[in-house]
Amino acid sequence: MDRLSSLNEVVTASAPAKIILFGEHFVVYGQSAVVLAIDKRAYVSAKLRTDRQTYVNSTDLGVSGFFNGEGFQPERGSYTARTSLEPIQRAAHHVLEEAGKRVGIDLEVHSSIPVASGLGSSAAVTSATVLAVSHLLNVELSQEEIFNFTLKSERLIHGTPSGIDPAISTYGGTLLFHKDRGVSPLKVDTDIPLVVGNTNVARSTGELVAAVRQRLNNFPSIIGPIIESGGRVALEAVEALKKGDLSTVGELMNINQSLLNGLGVSHETLERLISAARTSGAYGAKLTGGGGGGCMIALAKTETLKHIATAIERAGGTIFIAKKEDHGVRIEL
Ligand code: PMV
Repeated sequence: MDRLSSLNEVVTASAPAKIILFGEHFVVYGQSAVVLAIDKRAYVSAKLRTDRQTYVNSTDLGVSGFFNGEGFQPERGSYTARTSLEPIQRAAHHVLEEAGKRVGIDLEVHSSIPVASGLGSSAAVTSATVLAVSHLLNVELSQEEIFNFTLKSERLIHGTPSGIDPAISTYGGTLLFHKDRGVSPLKVDTDIPLVVGNTNVARSTGELVAAVRQRLNNFPSIIGPIIESGGRVALEAVEALKKGDLSTVGELMNINQSLLNGLGVSHETLERLISAARTSGAYGAKLTGGGGGGCMIALAKTETLKHIATAIERAGGTIFIAKKEDHGVRIEL
């Protein structure tokens, strides 16, 4: 039945943050990566407007504004607000096009995911937007379609995204991801006890991805094999994860970190937190996401997690203990 929701109806969807356990950056060049959804979510509420504008308000970023065709009118924040809000508007726009509807929409974004820190905040917001708007317009989208619309919108953030962030925010769980072969859910029975340490150093994934491409162009015979090794580390880690062999997983995380160092995407604050985690007994520690600041993760025995978290905190990180999350993007009732 082709109908629109009433003007009073509010539809809220949410999607999870993510941790890349293995393979960030290498994944952009067609290597496999291991990623898991964690228990922090972004929430997007959608409501019809009486005009044709798209209004986006992100409380956490402190920015809001109106999109009208190609035009943008900031409400809070300056015109730079457009950069943060446009992927959200684009996501809504893709669904409107799919539905063949020309209506205005209000979008309210709330998120407990730290931004610009490698935890997939933008993809979580974008996929939640796609689902909330599709429900508002009574358009049935498959998970694959939600993933594709999210990926299309993410292209605004950096030109060559692998799709790993849209995939995990859409599907949730623990995934083996390959940009051409897509996702395979991984059945990992063991707990993956992780501490996340945020350096609070903001960085841009797009710039880091571009810097890696430059290094690959400058030194193809050196960087090429590093990238291939990164893929092999991820595949080896899958076997260790399936066996519940966390000590090997930790060792592979340390190798992964060394390879990322070779790409030039670590940062002195990340190194400090990683070193604190390792010396206090973690199985392994590495940056997660784009690097250059942002977050690191440490894998440890459950009973030592708090001790390791304290060490990371003393080294200057903001910490939290991450739990695996099975649910990808979903409607909140
Ligand atoms: O920094 P984040 O959370 O956006 O992670 C990006 C992961 C990269 O591999 C660096 C980029 C990509 O598109 O896969």
